[in-house]
Amino acid sequence: VKLHSLRSRDIASIAEMTSKVSLLRRYGWDLAKGRKILKKALADPSSDLIVAKEGSRFLGFAWVVRQGGFARSAYLRLIAVDTKAKRRGIGRLLMREMERRHLNPSGLLLLATSTNQAARRFYEKLGYRRVGLLRDYVRKGLREVIYFKPCPNNS
Ligand SMILES: CC(C)(COP(=O)(O)OP(=O)(O)OC[C@H]1O[C@@H](n2cnc3c(N)ncnc32)[C@H](O)[C@@H]1OP(=O)(O)O)[C@@H](O)C(=O)NCCC(=O)NCCS
Repeated sequence: VKLHSLRSRDIASIAEMTSKVSLLRRYGWDLAKGRKILKKALADPSSDLIVAKEGSRFLGFAWVVRQGGFARSAYLRLIAVDTKAKRRGIGRLLMREMERRHLNPSGLLLLATSTNQAARRFYEKLGYRRVGLLRDYVRKGLREVIYFKPCPNNS
């Protein structure tokens, strides 16, 4: 599995892969929306987008917004692994690369819906600490858990 930055010719494949992730569908993400949002993100210098690829198959995607957390820390906007490629270490690989790029100087912040146990275990396993809770933030009735990993040189 290889990682590289998202290129415009990858957008259709990543939109297709992510449109099958049920969590994203629940938040209104579909093929057309995915393409539009990814195209916009690629043109935005504050966004950093990477993909995981095995041969010609895209297996994962991660999106970090530079200083997207309180205009200070990096913010993980999205991570998704192909539904058929979960638990193979691809999510971990994507996060490690994002941490290499963005943990310095002010750490990495992210949100996980409180009911998304898989994602919460995943982040906790990678050393993210629960630092807060946002109620009715993304959707009414849902709670978002705020996770943070500080920069090791800064803690
Ligand atoms: C969360 C997600 C990115 C994890 O990706 P992944 O490639 O399956 O995760 P990895 O294989 O790298 O897992 C690393 C570790 O995280 C933990 N973990 C991952 N998925 C888990 C699950 N479903 N249940 C419990 N622990 C889990 C495990 O400790 C795992 O290590 P192990 O397999 O050696 O035990 C993936 O499940 C996904 O795309 N989910 C749908 C989208 C989503 O929820 N995104 C996050 C939004 S906040």
